[in-house]
Amino acid sequence: MPGETAPDPYRVWLSEVMLQQTTVAAVTPRFERFIARWPTVEALAGARDEHVLSEWAGLGYYARARNLIACAREVAARGGFPDTEEQLRQLPGIGAYTAAAIAAIAFGRRALVMDTNVERVVARLHAIEAPIAESKPRLRELLDMMTPVERAGDFAQAMMDLGATICRPKSPDCPACPLNAGCSAFASGEPERFPAPKRKAVRPARYGVAHWIERSGSIWLVRRPAKGMLGGMAALPGPDWTDEPAPAETALVHVSHVFTHFHLELAVVASDSPTGEGWWQPLDRLVDAGLPTLYRRAADSVLEARSALAA
Ligand code: ADE
Repeated sequence: MPGETAPDPYRVWLSEVMLQQTTVAAVTPRFERFIARWPTVEALAGARDEHVLSEWAGLGYYARARNLIACAREVAARGGFPDTEEQLRQLPGIGAYTAAAIAAIAFGRRALVMDTNVERVVARLHAIEAPIAESKPRLRELLDMMTPVERAGDFAQAMMDLGATICRPKSPDCPACPLNAGCSAFASGEPERFPAPKRKAVRPARYGVAHWIERSGSIWLVRRPAKGMLGGMAALPGPDWTDEPAPAETALVHVSHVFTHFHLELAVVASDSPTGEGWWQPLDRLVDAGLPTLYRRAADSVLEARSALAA
C-alpha cells in the first residue's frame, strides 16, 4: 500500500506479471493462492513446472507462466531481485513496463511506469488526440515531466488507479478527478474523445479438432508440447490447428475461443482409443487437471450438452 514500508519485490513482480492483461478482480484470489503455495522466490524456483502451470490455469498467456518459472530460478540463483530497471530488464519475461514498476514500487527508484491506463491519463491531461500507438514517445516525455523523484512507486500506482477507476476509457468521472483543474480533455467538454481509439485488429480464424475419449467416468488428456500456443498445458488430444476448416465431422460441441492474434473454432468429436502419452482424468476431478480456459470450456460444454439431453 502507498506510504508503507517497501513491499517485497517477489510480490510486486508476481502481481505485475499476473496483472498484465488480467483484471485486479480476477487476479486477487489467484495471487493470494499462489503466494500461500510459494511464499518466496526461492520456493517458486524449486517448484515443478507442471505445478506452476496448473496453478496458472485460467489466467491465460501461458508464456508468462513459463517465463515466471525461468525468472524465479535466475533470481534465486543470483540471491535476489536486482534493484535497477536496467538489470531487471535482463530477466526472462520482464519488459520495460514491469522493470519500471518493480524498480519504482519495490525499490523506490524514480522510473517511468507507463501502462495503458497511465497513457490514457497523460493523453487526456494534454488533450492528445492521436491513437496511443502513434504518440507513445510524446506521452513518455510528458510522464517524465510529472514523475516525482520521491515516492515514484506511489505516484505510479496512483496514476494506474486513477486510470482504472476515474479516468476510464468510457464515461470518465471527471468531477471526482484530483487532476481535473489542469486537464485539457476535461476543459474541452468531451474528455472521452482523447485519445482516439486504436483501429480494431481483425483476428483471423483458425480451426481445431479435439478428441473426447471417455471411459468409465474418465477422459483422456495429454500435455501439449512445451513450445507454442498453450505450451506445456494439459489439453484434450487432437491434431495441430489449421488455417482452413477441417472436413466436417459430427461434433459433440463447437467452441469459439478468442486468443490475442486469432480466434479458434474448436470442434470436439467423440473418439474411442487414446493415442500417444497421456492420462485418464476422472470427470469429477476435472478441476484438478489444470486445463487452460479453452479446454475447460470445451469439456464443460460437452458435459452441459449431455446433461441437457438427459433432462
Ligand atoms: N495495475 C497493474 N499494476 C498495478 C499497480 N501496481 N497498481 C495499480 N494498478 C495496477
